[in-house]
Amino acid sequence: MEKKRSSFSGKLGFVLAAAGSAVGLGNLWRFPYLAAKYGGGIFLLVYLILAVTFGFTLMIGEVALGRKTGLSAIGAFKKLNSKYTFVGYFAALVPIIIMPYYCVIGGWVFKYFTAFLTGHSQSAAQDGYFEGFISQTGQPILWQSVFILGTAIVVFLGVEKGVEKVSKVLMPLLVILTVGIAIYSVTLPGASAGIIYYLKPDFTHFSITTVVGAMGQLFYSMSLAMGIMITYGSYMKKDVNLEKSVSQIEIFDTGIAFFAGMMIVPAVFVFSGGDASAINAGPGLMFVTLPKVFMSMPFGTIIGILFFILVLFAALTSSISLMETIVSITCDRLHWNRRLATIIVSLFALAVALPSSLGFGAWSGIQPMGMSFLDFFDFISNSVLMPIVAFFTCIFIGYVIKPKTISDEIKLNSPFKREKLFVVMIKYIAPVCLIIILVSSILNALGIFVI
Ligand code: TRP
Repeated sequence: MEKKRSSFSGKLGFVLAAAGSAVGLGNLWRFPYLAAKYGGGIFLLVYLILAVTFGFTLMIGEVALGRKTGLSAIGAFKKLNSKYTFVGYFAALVPIIIMPYYCVIGGWVFKYFTAFLTGHSQSAAQDGYFEGFISQTGQPILWQSVFILGTAIVVFLGVEKGVEKVSKVLMPLLVILTVGIAIYSVTLPGASAGIIYYLKPDFTHFSITTVVGAMGQLFYSMSLAMGIMITYGSYMKKDVNLEKSVSQIEIFDTGIAFFAGMMIVPAVFVFSGGDASAINAGPGLMFVTLPKVFMSMPFGTIIGILFFILVLFAALTSSISLMETIVSITCDRLHWNRRLATIIVSLFALAVALPSSLGFGAWSGIQPMGMSFLDFFDFISNSVLMPIVAFFTCIFIGYVIKPKTISDEIKLNSPFKREKLFVVMIKYIAPVCLIIILVSSILNALGIFVI
């Protein structure tokens, strides 16, 4: 039974929906801590170069695949060449791994929002507050459960459209607030060292891990190599200028990540009191630094409340879309009904989120491949699965269906300005680099080989 596929209204519909999926915790939480960890300016530079080459190539390839076939990942690969259906399955695995730990971070945001709301903003800005919180057992589990429940209710009731409408109003507010806080952060006394660290590439910090980190972040932030953009492409009308839309999403997504870094990284230098290791705080960076920024501001508590509720919204819309993706895959493949699938996927998320959360406390002694559970799941999806999916997507487009199939789809209504870049990237540069990245990230993680 084929239902008629609904499509996005007009040009803006696609850009807004895809940007809604792209912008989330990846930009606000993940990008700043990676930029801080991997050498600041050099990470930013590598990221920008990758965004306009790899990011552009993969995103336009995926969206065109979706629009051409009118199907989501598994179906799209199957229709064009059934030997490559496995790439669709691999792509489908990525959201399944990301979603549970995404909810752990969503739970942290929820906790900070309520802390600010209930008058605990001062204590949230104290040293040790964050560690004290994540190392507990009950509290983080409680908050991530609330977050998963919120996500599940929306998916269960099928009211995503309503949430999307609200988020279309809230997202611009979040952007304005992020830019505003970034401007405030860089004017703090003592911020200049941090601004230089964030903006000036220091080539002595460059290593293959910088590239691996930036590449994983690119996939994550732009929802690439996981079938999402294929699905969005399948809803896209044939008269929309594909190249232009992809550029707009990229600029928007990268812009927000840039300002999120600007808001957090220089502030680390201001508040760490010369403690150089603060820059390496990892997944907690945003939660440790931002409350201090807010508390140094006039009306800090109110700004903090507003900021965390907006981030919570951005995180919720992303987790809704993640859960929705998994639910629709299980409904398609296993023929479950939607509501049953939602319940089972939520229980799965609750269970798999547990180790990610306990990994910072009760289970911190268990370290798969020397990482905390959350970092481990993040590593498996971003540094292993996504490069694999991206590699096979390039091979598929470059050698199986041929780049011309994609170019023709793009040229249906507009010239393809960066066609040459696209062809060279997808056939030669991207597959080679992806293999190097995949191998080196695995070897690095195993501690065998560190460049
Ligand atoms: N790109 C999103 C972010 O930056 C995270 C994400 C990854 C996502 N995969 C997704 C969101 C699938 C929605 C659907 O936070």
